[in-house]
Order: sequence, then C-alpha cells, then structure tokens
Amino acid sequence: VALWQRLQNKHWRAAYPEMLDYNDSGGYGPLRRAVADYLRVFRSVRLDADQVLITSGTQQSLELCAHLLADHGDTVWLEDPAYWGAVKAFTATGLAIHPVAVDEEGIAPGEADERKPPRLIYVTPSHQYPTGAVMSLARRQQLLASASRCNAWVLEDDYDSEFRFSGPPISSLAGLDAEGRVLYMGTFSKVLYPGLKLGYLVVPKTLVHAFKQAHYDLNRPGQMPLQAALAEFIEMGHFASALRRARQTYAERRQLLVDALAPVLDKGLGRIHGAAQGLHLCLRLPAHADDRAIAAQAAREGLTVRPLSAYCLQRQDLRGLAIGYGYAAPEAIKRHGPVLARVVQAALPDGGQARV
Ligand SMILES: Cc1ncc(COP(=O)(O)O)c(C=O)c1O
Repeated sequence: VALWQRLQNKHWRAAYPEMLDYNDSGGYGPLRRAVADYLRVFRSVRLDADQVLITSGTQQSLELCAHLLADHGDTVWLEDPAYWGAVKAFTATGLAIHPVAVDEEGIAPGEADERKPPRLIYVTPSHQYPTGAVMSLARRQQLLASASRCNAWVLEDDYDSEFRFSGPPISSLAGLDAEGRVLYMGTFSKVLYPGLKLGYLVVPKTLVHAFKQAHYDLNRPGQMPLQAALAEFIEMGHFASALRRARQTYAERRQLLVDALAPVLDKGLGRIHGAAQGLHLCLRLPAHADDRAIAAQAAREGLTVRPLSAYCLQRQDLRGLAIGYGYAAPEAIKRHGPVLARVVQAALPDGGQARV
C-alpha cells in the first residue's frame, strides 16, 4: 500500500496539464505497452500496443463492444449460466440474448444455435463464470469455427486467467484466432483491487481507430496519473510480485475452503468444479436441491454464497453454489466453511439418494 501510494503521489506531482485532461489515445502509452508485453508472454496473444485500449474495467469494455459492433436487436450468444455483468451490458444496449448451455468443457453451441446466428459471442473460457468450467482446446477451436461460419465477433472475458493453480496453461482464444474476430478483455480488479477501476480491451487492428474514437466520444477517459502509476508499478516488477503473492494467498484460501467442504463431498451431496483456476469455485448440488434456499440460509448465518440457478438464463437443470474466497481471510474460512458445510447437509437430509 505504501509503495502504491508513493507511486501515485509521484505521478500526481509530475502531472503536466495534458495528464489532467481527457485522453483520446486509448490510454497512457507505457501502460498500454506493459499490458501488450504481458499478454504476449502469458496469454499468447499476438498484438501491438496500439491495439490495447485502457478502460475503466470489463464492464466498460463490454459496453463499448456492444455499442460499436452490434445494432439494437442483434443477437448475442451468452453462456448459460451467465455472468450478470454481461447480461446487464447487453440488455441495456438492446441486444437479443440467445443462451447457449455450458458443459464441462465450456460453451457448447450446436447446429440449432447457429440457426440463430449471432453478431457477438461472449465467453469466459479460462474459468467460466459461474460454473468454473475451463474451455478445452478442442472446444476453443470449435467455437472459433462456429464464429467464423456465423461471421460473429467473439468477446473473450479473461477476468481471472492470472490465477491458474494446476493443469497446463491453455492459450487464450485471442491467441488461437487467425481471422481477427476475437476481442480480448482483462481487468486489474482481481490482482490489485476492484475500486481501481482499470482494465483493458484488445481490438483487432482494423477496429483500433473506431474504438479509440468511440471510447473518447462515449466515455471521455482520463485518470492519466493513476495509469502512469500503474505502468511504473508493472515496469518495476511490483505487479509480478503482487501476482505471485496473490496466487499463493488464494491457493491457501481455496484449499481451506475445499477442506471445510469435505463432509459434503464425502457424503456425495456435492461436487467441486472449477477449483483449478480463479477466485471462486462452484459446489455442484443434486438437481432437486433448492440452492436459493441454501444460499438464503447461509446468508442468515453470515455467509455470502450465490445460488447457481440464479445465473441460469434458460436451463432448469443446474443447482449449486458459487463460492468466492478472494475476500475471505483464512480465519474466516476456517470459521465459516464448516458452517456452510452444515447448512448444505441440513438442506439435503436424504443423503445417499441425493447424490450428484
Ligand atoms: C466474469 C467476470 N468478468 C469481469 C469481472 C470484473 O470486471 P470489472 O473489470 O468490471 O471489475 C468479474 C468480476 O467479478 C467477473 O466475474
């Protein structure tokens, strides 16, 4: 915190008038270069820094894409279940949402879906939100082929790819894209903090000019001293250190949570999905479980967990809990984890019959 404050003070003191104005160049140059360098090495994205736009986070990146790439009433494919932020962004821009079910390998569009050809396809392939599915390489290639047949843009939300705890890294969709139809978005909310409100959007070369102009016209971006502080934070290696520390911290928290849920798993009442990646895991429950009632009971016990069924757009078959551990201190997980396990067991008294 002290270092971050020092860097911010330094860049505020050094701020020249242009740094206090709106910015029309897509963000602070050195920050765009630092993001491009990171993505080239860690996410296999082939890009120039000029293709990077600094935004106020994923939400703004999504809104920009919806405004620029689609017209009112156009179809967007969304994963079912879906990230509420994406649902809100696309609903607010008047797009028609077409849900496509997610399985263990991620979004699984079929021929019937292609009969509703989308203008946009929104996906979270590194760690599907909320089920936690990691999209397989084969599925990534199928999705790109499907996007190509439908002539759709693919919006890749790589919101927590920095946190891969086990298994081989899989190239981003943007890294596999040979046709320039993937727009890649990332955020600093997870490694640093959500209130920082900084993220990035990588657009194909052909769209750079239009996106910069629209970003300026719609959002009047600024915060240059803050962006400069972040650029220096990355250049000096502090971001890499923060990431290393955060990975270790979250891996420990994840393990504590998994341990606390052992009684539920041992009795076959639930299965954990998506724990190899990210800052949340998904506890899948039997189809007859009332996950909303379980989440409500957990809330009465002072715990915040989200029912999987609340994220479903169309499907009726999914029950479970999305459990975040990014904000929970180890002591809190040790104290509350067993409470959650008890709440789940109490809600599924028929034990063996309720196997997932
Ligand atoms: C799927 C997904 N995308 C993006 C974000 C973060 O977005 P932002 O940069 O708007 O904070 C989150 C945060 O929880 C998320 O779950």
